[in-house]
Amino acid sequence: NATTVSPAHSASTASTLITNIATLVTNDPSLGDTSPLGLVQDAAVVIEGDRIAWTGDQSKAPATDNRVDAGGRAVLPGFVDSHSHLVFAGDRTQEFNARMSGRPYSAGGIRTTVAATRAASDEELEANVTRYLAEALRQGTTTFETKSGYGLTAHDESRALRIAARHTDEVTFLGAHIVAPEFAEDPAGYVALVTGGMLDACAPHARWIDVFCEKGAFDGDQARAILTAGKARGLHPRVHANQLSYGPGVRLAVELDAASADHCTHLTDADVDALANSRTVATLLPGAEFSTRAEWPDARRLLDAGVTVALSTDCNPGSSFTSSVPFCIALAVRDMGMTPDEAVWAATAGGAAALRRDDIGRLTPGAYADLTLLDAPSHVHLAYRPGVPLVSGVWRRGERVV
Ligand code: NIG
Ligand code: FE
Repeated sequence: NATTVSPAHSASTASTLITNIATLVTNDPSLGDTSPLGLVQDAAVVIEGDRIAWTGDQSKAPATDNRVDAGGRAVLPGFVDSHSHLVFAGDRTQEFNARMSGRPYSAGGIRTTVAATRAASDEELEANVTRYLAEALRQGTTTFETKSGYGLTAHDESRALRIAARHTDEVTFLGAHIVAPEFAEDPAGYVALVTGGMLDACAPHARWIDVFCEKGAFDGDQARAILTAGKARGLHPRVHANQLSYGPGVRLAVELDAASADHCTHLTDADVDALANSRTVATLLPGAEFSTRAEWPDARRLLDAGVTVALSTDCNPGSSFTSSVPFCIALAVRDMGMTPDEAVWAATAGGAAALRRDDIGRLTPGAYADLTLLDAPSHVHLAYRPGVPLVSGVWRRGERVV
């Protein structure tokens, strides 16, 4: 099924040579030029089964069963979208309209989607996930993470995770998105549920646990309690941190060795230092600042401090209703101080780092054969030609799916 990015794809063991690649992004400096993108000009890639078998100068390519002519265009690793919220129903057009006439974004809008998601059937939620994944795949995304967070009961959160797990291994339990409306007067009771019965129902279906650490959602102590409980159940932390205001999220993420601190829009120097001295990736989500008319995260400051940066969509109906990584790359280059090379790295190898994966996000022998072919001579065109559908081919696990 070409519309899902399921971990269970079977690929044949036939070998395929993709040749006549003007610019190949390997993300392996040992394979190409010495830049982080490991660029190879006039390159070829050999796919065997679901893996990359060889990359290099096309004049040295080994013989294969099949051959694809890239037509002098660019090939790069499939995008790794390490942050999305795809299990939801309904949309929030009115809220977006109100924002575009001057109203600020508020996390309270999440309640609208919680009501619609609880009321939706499994089939409706499944159809939505399938639709947004198909959109993402057409735009070059070959791996994505997705979260619960619009159910906020043990039943609705575990249902969301089960649906997500049909499409990806990178499933995140976000019962702590906001305090469920039923617990508005008893936030401590809600934290007890999230760390108790809800965690019991959800832990078997997820790899990660996340908390929205923010005023109006969960404070540092609540977030620490929730993430620590998740860790004790084998879930690894990632944190919605410092999105709408300064706060403890980023330092908590570093303290708990979270794979990623996501948003990172309001950072003190101490936050930047903490990230720079950790293995926690800063995942920037410019679709959210675009759609909430908020100030941009300062990617330049993070990169100059030596922080590992990932770029993802945050696709959700409230703050960032885009499934397009190319759009996020263009925003990051135009408005967040990233070079096109840095943005492309962040959306591929950076996303893989944010998921603690080394089998994706690079076109190096042994990695999964997840590749995107652009209708452009280089990856720079992703930022240079914003809004243009440049993705003209996608291979996932060695199989051509677009
Ligand atoms: O990542 N920040 C919290 N969660 C989402 C927004 C969710 C919503 O508004 O529905 C985010 O931006
Ligand atoms: Fe998010």
